[in-house]
Amino acid sequence: MASQPDVMDKLVSLCKRRGFIFQSSEIYGGTGSVWDYGPLGVELKKNIKDRWWNAMVRSRDDIEGLDAAILMHPRTWEASGHVAGFVDPLVDCKTCKGRFRADKLEDARCPQKPSKIPGQHDACQLTEARNFNLMFKTYMGALEESASIVYLRPETAQGIFVNFLNVQQSMRQKVPFGIAQIGKAFRNEITPGNFIFRTREFEQMEMQFFVEPGTDMEWFEQWKQLRMEWHLALGLSPERLKFHQHGAGELAHYARAAFDVTFDFGGTLGFQEIEGVHNRSDFDLTQHQQFSNKKLEYYDQLNNKRYVPYVIETSVGADRVTLAALVNAYREESVEGEDEGRVVLGLHPSIAPIKAAIFPLTKKDGQPDMARRIMNDLRGAFTVDYDESGSIGKRYRRQDEVGTPFCITVDGQSTGDDTVTVRERDTLAQERVSAGQLKGYIASRVLGG
Ligand code: GAP
Repeated sequence: MASQPDVMDKLVSLCKRRGFIFQSSEIYGGTGSVWDYGPLGVELKKNIKDRWWNAMVRSRDDIEGLDAAILMHPRTWEASGHVAGFVDPLVDCKTCKGRFRADKLEDARCPQKPSKIPGQHDACQLTEARNFNLMFKTYMGALEESASIVYLRPETAQGIFVNFLNVQQSMRQKVPFGIAQIGKAFRNEITPGNFIFRTREFEQMEMQFFVEPGTDMEWFEQWKQLRMEWHLALGLSPERLKFHQHGAGELAHYARAAFDVTFDFGGTLGFQEIEGVHNRSDFDLTQHQQFSNKKLEYYDQLNNKRYVPYVIETSVGADRVTLAALVNAYREESVEGEDEGRVVLGLHPSIAPIKAAIFPLTKKDGQPDMARRIMNDLRGAFTVDYDESGSIGKRYRRQDEVGTPFCITVDGQSTGDDTVTVRERDTLAQERVSAGQLKGYIASRVLGG
């Protein structure tokens, strides 16, 4: 039985209507499982990425940032094991032309008879399973020949591995230390779907922490806990988060141990991976040493020894966390004394796309001027919105639906005593605040955590 309600269809519609997320190339009928972030979506995702960057890079002196290129030398992907091993088993149905993952048939539906899984309906004609590589291939330079094949990276991690010594030496870091980056990754998924949950173009936030062999499992435990705490601090409900440990058959080709942070997306989707914490041992650095013929060892001066570090990786999808934050935040509720209920995105204030909306109660008596003055004053510090159309109730509803934590109203009293009312999204409590103190008032509530 589903533990949490299924809000996905309502969210997809809200996201389009209110400028969070649009289907890519919609006017041409859309591109398969690729999405564009609209004005509010780009703010939400950026806020999530900023929180990750602040937690992983800016607030620590043992992690450095990096922004490596998407296109890498093709040998990278031979060394990493992706050319040979980044495959899903694929079956085709000769009748309906559907394509399914052979190892996930039980999760799929026969397009002609959705009550059955592919292969169970009399008309199904499934082919033998064959391996399908998930990397997108393209050509570098003018010649479309095999010598110029390059891949769109399927994970950002390899850009970190090949720069291990560049970063370590230029920043004079000592093991243990980490390298973090945020960037696009591409996978030609056979069964993408569930909105932005599994897409073919997505963003990863990855960190590789280089440690001395033998200390790896200690660091692995530490990073597991730290990453769970990060998701909780983002406002995801504790009851919707849990770890899933990979069994021997589930481990990726590079992993010695792996835990997923899973989130309950509700409905039939239920608990799904949003982040992976992996012990990659010295697999990647050793492979790159062999394929590049360049040493990727760390010299521990203090103990006068050389070794190839082990790597603890934390890998989280920016889009998946954005979806988790939206699902977690969506609620419908009735309001006391009002006939109409409201839809609220109860996002953590630090990730809300708009921090404060400013309304003049009426369009006269200098109220719009004062409201605009306040908006311009707050604009340097926060994302703000100005709205003077419709009743105050309607304006509140519009902001609740996109998760704005504070609505500021300029009324008849405001122009006289320079105070405004601030209404809080979740409690509906209203407070009179001096206009000059608004910045501090909002900052203390928005920036915390
Ligand atoms: N470097 C390790 C790695 O890439 P992964 O478990 O394949 O590990 C890590 O991916 C995270 O990237 C996932 O937990 C998920 O959040 C995100 N991710 C992976 N494939 C995705 C896809 N097709 N669409 C959206 N996010 C994806």
